[in-house]
This record gives sequence, structure tokens and C-alpha cells, in this order.
Amino acid sequence: MTDNIALLQQMTAAAQLGGGKARIESQHKKGKLTARERLQILLDEGTFQEIGAFVTHRSTDFGMENEVFLGDGVVTGYGSIAGRLVYVFSQDFTVFGGSLSETHAEKICRIMDLALQNGAPVIGLNDSGGARIQEGVVSLGGYADIFHRNVQASGVVPQLSAIMGPCAGGAVYSPAITDFILMVEGSSYMFVTGPNVVKTVTHEQVTSEELGGAQTHASRSGVTHFACTNEVECIQCLKELLSYIPQNCEEEAPSLPYHAGNETREVLAHIIPDNPNQPYDMKEVIAGLADEGKFLEVHKDYAENIVVGFARIAGKSTGIVANQPAQLAGVLDIASSKKGARFVRFCDAFNIPLLVLVDVPGFLPGTDQEWGGIITNGAKLLYALSEATVPKVTVITRKAYGGAYDVMNSKHIGADMNFAWPSAEIAVMGAKGAAEIIFKKEIKEAADKEAKMKEKEAEYASKFANPYGAAARGYIDEVILPEQTRERLIRAYDMLRNKALSGPKRKHGNIPL
Ligand code: HXC
Repeated sequence: MTDNIALLQQMTAAAQLGGGKARIESQHKKGKLTARERLQILLDEGTFQEIGAFVTHRSTDFGMENEVFLGDGVVTGYGSIAGRLVYVFSQDFTVFGGSLSETHAEKICRIMDLALQNGAPVIGLNDSGGARIQEGVVSLGGYADIFHRNVQASGVVPQLSAIMGPCAGGAVYSPAITDFILMVEGSSYMFVTGPNVVKTVTHEQVTSEELGGAQTHASRSGVTHFACTNEVECIQCLKELLSYIPQNCEEEAPSLPYHAGNETREVLAHIIPDNPNQPYDMKEVIAGLADEGKFLEVHKDYAENIVVGFARIAGKSTGIVANQPAQLAGVLDIASSKKGARFVRFCDAFNIPLLVLVDVPGFLPGTDQEWGGIITNGAKLLYALSEATVPKVTVITRKAYGGAYDVMNSKHIGADMNFAWPSAEIAVMGAKGAAEIIFKKEIKEAADKEAKMKEKEAEYASKFANPYGAAARGYIDEVILPEQTRERLIRAYDMLRNKALSGPKRKHGNIPL
């Protein structure tokens, strides 16, 4: 009996050590935490229940039968974050570089299956050299087993991926399918083919960091939603993100206690500049509307002409999509449409009400945009907002021009409540452009062309550069003072809290991907 217990203790200790002390030291020297240290920070103290600590690989090629590590390069199990159940896997770089073997994949699949059956999020901490080279096709099969589960779980339970080391080759496609990716600056990278292959094929010289580091994916590709300065910040960000989202698609996100008070926000009355062409920062509007001014911005450095993220309004998690006049005048383009659409679909899948703040001059013109497919890509945001069945509220702060008016959660595509500030301008196009087209003849024939142009521009502006034409038709439910907005939103979401809407029967829609 004593021997049995001693054996268990010995195996438990070995499993805790992963690839051994030397490799743990090497991990620390790189400024990285180990798989278990990460879980310790992530999960509520004492809640981690490991599954499969003694699993080992089955490979006998290349002398692998002599290199066996308990756990096989991934720590899996469940625990809680802020008291809520989560399933986790944390790849252990100290064991064969965290590479994915047949059994490593089986462990991940097991917790994914449990997460799906029990309706709780899956969090993956990725740190891996990719497919276990010694195993060949069974490793590739293991990846595909995970990809398939990622797809099955999509929209059912939230899936979050933190990249804390290498993530390369086909391995990138599991995080890519998950809802959110977080990367750590300086120590993580993601690419389909690394710098050596790039050099051979395209003769480009590029470092791993430039090709697929956190900043690259946060600002250029949009692959990552968050770039964090270190691992601890990354884990804190994971927890904060989780606080805004529900356990699964049948639940609501947790609410914070909220005590009704004076909801007038004077600060909102002073944000819109007198000059309608002067930019302002839409994040100031968001701060004025959110509880405690708190906003968790998603995709902060990517397509900055649209702002997306989570806030709480009267304690309830709300997804915000807002044009940003401080960047490219808040115009819609390919990247911002994709960014907005993806976020909207996440919120809709997980019952998070949407708030759309509108100040948009239209779609970005140019060959870059047309040849890049602004038609298909712009349609994504239109489709996503139109399709969403969660409570949807719109506030037009200033411009709502052209097709972008329709796209940005107009009444016509299913918004529940549409508000406009007195500064709103709702028209087919800006007054100058409109006057140039419809009064072309009169302006051409006038003795003083410039004066005529100004007169006609003013005429068009006085007719359309306001919210009252839209309000007269019921497209705007109420024109409100900016400082009243938070109070109106609280009322609107409260009124909409039992909203139930189902679309026509179909297998699935065909969003223009
Ligand atoms: C087996 C691996 C491994 C792998 C690393 N190791 N990657 N073992 N399979 N894929 C082992 C190393 O042998 C080493 O073992 C230990 O992990 C640490 O690796 P180092 O190279 O010493 O670490 P470092 O210098 O930090 O470099 C990390 C690395 C590099 C950049 C990830 O190891 C590397 O390039 N690995 C190969 C990456 C790769 O080509 N993977 C396959 C991609 S294809 P010891 O015993 O010395 O500690 C793929 C397809 C997926 O993934 C398809 C899905 C559809």
C-alpha cells in the first residue's frame, strides 16, 4: 500500500515538472511562464481540477518510446474564474516544445467535448511548436479533430485563445476559429509559414515578430483582438473579457449590481464640435454612456475608423459598435466593415444587446477599396446587423449619409429604438456634393458661381442636415439631447429585455464571406 502511494506521489511530482527543471528554467529565461503557472494566475485559487495528468504519447518511432513525459505537453482540465466554470488547456512548451501529438490532441478534444456538453467557455493557452514531427499524420488528424470541435462549439460556448509562444503552420487555424485571440508582445507569434519559407518563396526578409508578432496582428492583419505587453496582463485581459460574456448561447452575460440615480450626463453635451467637419473622439461619447465610463475595447489598433467593444449600461453587458470621426472621418471601409461584422455576430450569438453610435460620412471611395471588394465586405456589416436578433439600439450623433445610414443599424434593417441628437444630419450625401449635382445647371449659369453654390449648399443643408425628416417618417423614434442619452438607453434596454425574435426557417444564411 505504501509503495502504491509512493508511486502516485512520484508520478504526480513528475507530471508537475513537465519536461523537467532545466527546460522550465529555459522557459523562465525567455521571460515566459510555464503552462501550470499560467493556469494558477488564470483560475480562482484552488479550483483547478486536472484531467489526464498521466496521459503519455504512443509513439515508438525515432526512439520516442524512451522519451515519455506525463501529460504529453498539455495541461487540461476545468476550474473557475470569478466563480464561473471554465474549461482550459495550457500547452507545455517544456515537453517536446508543446508540440501536438495524437494524445495531446485527445486531451484537448476531451475538454472541448465537456465544455460543449456542459455549456461553459473553453480557454486555450497556446505555446507550441506545432505538429509533433515524430508522429506524422496522427498529429495532423489531431489538429483536424480540434478544428472540427472549434466549429461545432462556435456560437454555442465562448472560445478564447491566448497565444503565449509560437503558434505556426496549420495550428493557427484553431485560434482563428475561436471568438477572441489575445497575443503577448515580444514572445508570441502566429503565421502560416515562417520567415525562412517566406524568404525562399518571395525573397522577403522579415523577422518572426514583424511577420506575425502581436503588434503586426493587432494593427495590420486584425488576426488578434488584443495585444498585451506581458503574460500576466494577457491573463488579466482574458478574465476581464470573460466578465462581459455569458457561459453559453442560452444564457445572458452576468450583470453587475446597479443602483438607479441621476443618469443625465452633462459631459455629452459638449463633445460635438460646432463645425460639422471637425473630428471628435467617439470614445468620449462611449465613456459618457457607459457605467463608470468603463469600456473594454476590442481590436483597438485595427481599422480604427470603427470602434467596437464591451461596456456595461445599468450593470448589463452591452456590445458597442461606433463610427470614429477621429479616424478617416469615421468612414466605412473593408477592414472596418469586417471588424464590425465579426463583433456584431459574436454579440448576437451570445445574447449581448447592441448599441450602435453613428457618425459616418459614407463608404471610402477609391480603387483600393473597389478592387479589394468593398462591395462584398461592406455587405458583411449590413448583413450582420440586419441578421442580429438581440436588442439593437442606435444613436446618430452627427452624420448618417448614404448607404452607410442604412448599414449602421437603421430602423429599416431591424433596429429596435433609433435616437438622434439635434446635431444629426441624415441625407443621401453631404450638402456640398449634393448641391453640385442637383443644382449643376443653375450654378453653371449663375453670374457669381461661388455665391450660387454656397446658396444651394445652404438650401440643401437646411433641408436635410438635421434629423427631422427621418423623425417625421418614424425612422428616428426620438430626437434627444446628448445629455439624456444614457437615461434613454437604460429605458430602451429595459423595455427590450424580453425581446424574442426568430427568423425564417432555413439551414443557415449565406453571409457574403
Ligand atoms: C517535436 C518539437 C517540435 C515539434 C519543437 N520541438 N518543435 N518536437 N515536434 N514540432 C522540441 C525541440 O526538439 C526541443 O526539444 C524543444 O521542443 C524546444 O525546441 P527548441 O527548438 O529548442 O526551442 P526554440 O529555440 O524556442 O524554438 C521553438 C520553435 C522551433 C521555433 C517552435 O522548435 C521550431 O521551429 N520547431 C519546429 C516547428 C515546426 O516546423 N512545426 C511543425 C509545423 S507544421 P528538446 O528535447 O531539445 O527540449 C504544423 C502543421 C500543423 O504544425 C497542421 C495542422 C493542420
